[in-house]
Amino acid sequence: MTGAQQNRNTIYVEDAAITDVRIFPDNQFIMRLNAPRCARTATPGSFIFIRCDESISMRRPLSIMRADATNGWVEILFKIVGAGMLALSKQQRGDTVSIIGPVGQGFEPFPERRLPLLIGGGVGIPPMVFLAEMLKNDYPGCRPLVIMGSEIPFPFELSQSKLVTPWLAKNVNSTMPLLEDWGIPTRLASLQNYDGCFDGYVTDLARDWLNTLAADELAQVEIFACGPTPMLKAVALLAQEFNLRCEVSLEEFMACAVGGCAGCAVSVKGDDGTIAMRRVCVDGPVFDAATVFGG
Ligand SMILES: Cc1cc2nc3c(=O)[nH]c(=O)nc-3n(C[C@H](O)[C@H](O)[C@H](O)COP(=O)(O)OP(=O)(O)OC[C@H]3O[C@@H](n4cnc5c(N)ncnc54)[C@H](O)[C@@H]3O)c2cc1C
Ligand code: FES
Repeated sequence: MTGAQQNRNTIYVEDAAITDVRIFPDNQFIMRLNAPRCARTATPGSFIFIRCDESISMRRPLSIMRADATNGWVEILFKIVGAGMLALSKQQRGDTVSIIGPVGQGFEPFPERRLPLLIGGGVGIPPMVFLAEMLKNDYPGCRPLVIMGSEIPFPFELSQSKLVTPWLAKNVNSTMPLLEDWGIPTRLASLQNYDGCFDGYVTDLARDWLNTLAADELAQVEIFACGPTPMLKAVALLAQEFNLRCEVSLEEFMACAVGGCAGCAVSVKGDDGTIAMRRVCVDGPVFDAATVFGG
């Protein structure tokens, strides 16, 4: 298909030229795609469904990490898993890939909750970057804290933070330069002894912070998380422990990503306690944690 084409009013099919590729250790890639229509309506938590190569018919879902509506680009971060991501990693600047997007319901922060906690693990980091940028731009007075975890080297150069986090040991100060530039305190957790990173799980680091908050501060916290399912379950439990609202972004295998096949359905508890099947692609991927993991 050539050119951009509107689909379902808000999801577009676009032939997106690759304008930049950055390569990081352990086969991780950040790719910038020229996709003006997608960039215009993307929200944090939404994703693209990308054709990795003409020889692979089934597209793959990848979160949008950044979207610039003015300049018409979106950025994705991915690591090589199997044939799809391997094929995508071979695409170069100047090549064109077909994308469908933005797909899905993203995160919905409450403006009055001024202390959002964003937790991203591994390839769950991208939507947290997007959400942090949105909170910075659109939620004046909001003071997010971002916690990222990885057991392989982080997909960015670590820098030392100058933003104060008095509740943390001074040597836990490695950060993501992009978020540091935005003035958003960000701390990193890993079990791999990386320089300046918290030695433990993202949820341990999050708990340390939550324990320092007074009741009126806790009332302003809500949690947003994306990452592997065990991490999301641990985050959901943490939210329950502190009685906090929590949204999680789920991953499921996707055949169509436009709501047609129900292959990505998960069971979700409704307000009245009844269980219903919801499609991760179009009803999610973001859900209230308590409705998918209990609580
Ligand atoms: C909403 C959403 C957002 C995602 N965002 C990112 C991201 O930002 N960065 C990133 O690196 N990865 C992300 N993933 C996971 C990514 O889609 C899979 O790693 C990728 O599809 C694997 O394809 P493959 O061919 O390389 O691997 P294979 O394992 O060979 O894939 C075989 C099949 O399984 C499917 N599949 C495998 N793992 C997953 C998975 N975890 N989720 C869904 N389908 C899977 C593939 O689509 C393919 O159909 C996301 C998944 C979802 C659902
Ligand atoms: S992947 Fe087909 S309905 Fe979600």
